Amino acid sequence: MAGAWSQDLVDRAWRFAAGAHLGQTLPGTDLPYSVHVALVCMEVMAALRSRPGHDEDLAVACALLHDVLEDTPASVEELRAAFGPAVAAGVLALSKDASLPREERMTDSLRRIREQPREVWMVKLADRITNLAPPPPHWTPAKIAAYRDEAGEILRALGEASPFLAGRLGKKIEEYAAFLEPAGR
Ligand code: NI
Repeated sequence: MAGAWSQDLVDRAWRFAAGAHLGQTLPGTDLPYSVHVALVCMEVMAALRSRPGHDEDLAVACALLHDVLEDTPASVEELRAAFGPAVAAGVLALSKDASLPREERMTDSLRRIREQPREVWMVKLADRITNLAPPPPHWTPAKIAAYRDEAGEILRALGEASPFLAGRLGKKIEEYAAFLEPAGR
C-alpha cells in the first residue's frame, strides 16, 4: 500500500536489525555493521523522497532488515511474525541462497528480487551503492573488477525501479573504475 513510512516501524525494524547484527563490524573497520544498514536505509529514504507513490513501510523495513537472514541467526518465521509476510518475503529474496554454488547466487537472488515489488528492488540498488566504497586492501584487481561488473548486472536487472537510485549506482560504478588503476600511478 502506498503511503509515508511509519516512524514506529522504522524504530522497531532498526532496533531488530541493530540487535541481530550486534557484535559484527564492517569489514576492514571497527564500525558496527549497523552503519551499513543505516546507510542502505538512508539511500532508500532519499529515493522515496525523490518520487512519491511507493509502499514506504515495505521499502524501509526491507532496507533495515535486508541482511538479517543472510548474516544473523534471525529466521524468516521471526520476520514474518514481527513485520508481516511482505517484509519477510522481500528480505528472503534479498538473501543469497547458500545452498547454491557461489557463482550462481547473485543471478538467483536477482531473479527472485524481480518477482518482488519494486520497493525490494530499490533495497538491492541501495545496498550496492553503499557497498561500492573503497575496496578492502586485500582485494585483488580481479576481485575488484568482478565486483564492479556485478554492480553493472544489478543496475541492468533492477535499475528501472528507481531513476534516482539507478543514477546514483551508475555514478558509483563509474567512480569505482579508479580502484582498478594500479596503486601509486
Ligand atoms: Ni547489505
